[in-house]
Amino acid sequence: MPQFANTYIWLFVRRASSWEGSVIHLITGKGGVGKSTVAASLAWKLAAAGRKTLLVELGERSYFRHIFGAEISVNPVFINSHLSVSRWEGEACLREYIQHFVKVEKVVRLFFDNKVMKALVHAAPALKELALLGKITSGPRRVGPPLPYDELVVDAYSTGHFRALWRAPVGMAEAIPFGPMGDQSRSISQIIKDPAQTQIYVTVIPEELPVTEGLELARDIQNELEQTPKIVLNRWLESPLTAEQLRPFAGHDFAAYLGQILDRQEGALAQIQTRGLTVLKLPWVFSDAMAEKVRTLAARLEAV
Ligand SMILES: Nc1ncnc2c1ncn2[C@@H]1O[C@H](COP(=O)(O)OP(=O)(O)OP(=O)(O)O)[C@@H](O)[C@H]1O
Ligand SMILES: [Mg+2]
Repeated sequence: MPQFANTYIWLFVRRASSWEGSVIHLITGKGGVGKSTVAASLAWKLAAAGRKTLLVELGERSYFRHIFGAEISVNPVFINSHLSVSRWEGEACLREYIQHFVKVEKVVRLFFDNKVMKALVHAAPALKELALLGKITSGPRRVGPPLPYDELVVDAYSTGHFRALWRAPVGMAEAIPFGPMGDQSRSISQIIKDPAQTQIYVTVIPEELPVTEGLELARDIQNELEQTPKIVLNRWLESPLTAEQLRPFAGHDFAAYLGQILDRQEGALAQIQTRGLTVLKLPWVFSDAMAEKVRTLAARLEAV
């Protein structure tokens, strides 16, 4: 056998045996609580620690371009030596997913260009969710284009849509007992249910409604994915004075207002702690520059 063929086989075997795929981090929470900011900060922290990290946003519009000042598309954009950012869109992932089963590009094109199939794809959103989670878990499952990263951080939709995301493969794994679609769904479910491979972060802010919604989601994750998410308590107001120290000044409007905020956030923290969940507390950063917020929060995440 020629020397180059030996080298090629050696490299292939080495990659197949040493690379186990990335650790997947899924960031969710109620709309507007800071999911994208937390996802970017976590990715920044991991990259700063020397882990090769891909930060992914889902959907048609990019939020990360405002943070990193670069156009974000499916091809990863290099932010620094360890951090890249990418945007994955449902239909493109579905095309890649179908290609995995069908192999022949011409047939895939026929499938997608067919009016009936187009209507089906739009009417059955679970297909896109399945394809997205299929891509997110493709590293450890060793299918599709390689994702050579140590960590994959996904800004993974808000509460309701996030439920739809994981319920797609979990539901299909139960509904389809055999065949390639059932097998794929089972292997995807297995990875998102395994805390060694997938970590889930529910972001909340210290107010009653987001915490209640976040805790309901955490309970569903525990029941249906059989793993316990971490709670990211974001936008915590770090006051130089405690609520107790403010009490003597309660006659002053501002002191009374600040005291109320501090009481409310302590109440929110207690509400989470009664559930025995791990809490990562992140401060309210007062800066207009998004990149600055991300760097500050990343440094805080390093400390926890
Ligand atoms: N810890 C923080 N300190 C200061 N500002 C923050 C913090 N976290 C988030 N923000 C700000 O709050 C706003 C909402 O944050 P972000 O866009 O990350 O939320 P989201 O949950 O991703 O929102 P959406 O549901 O719309 O996707 C942004 O202006 C962001 O800069
Ligand atoms: Mg967002």
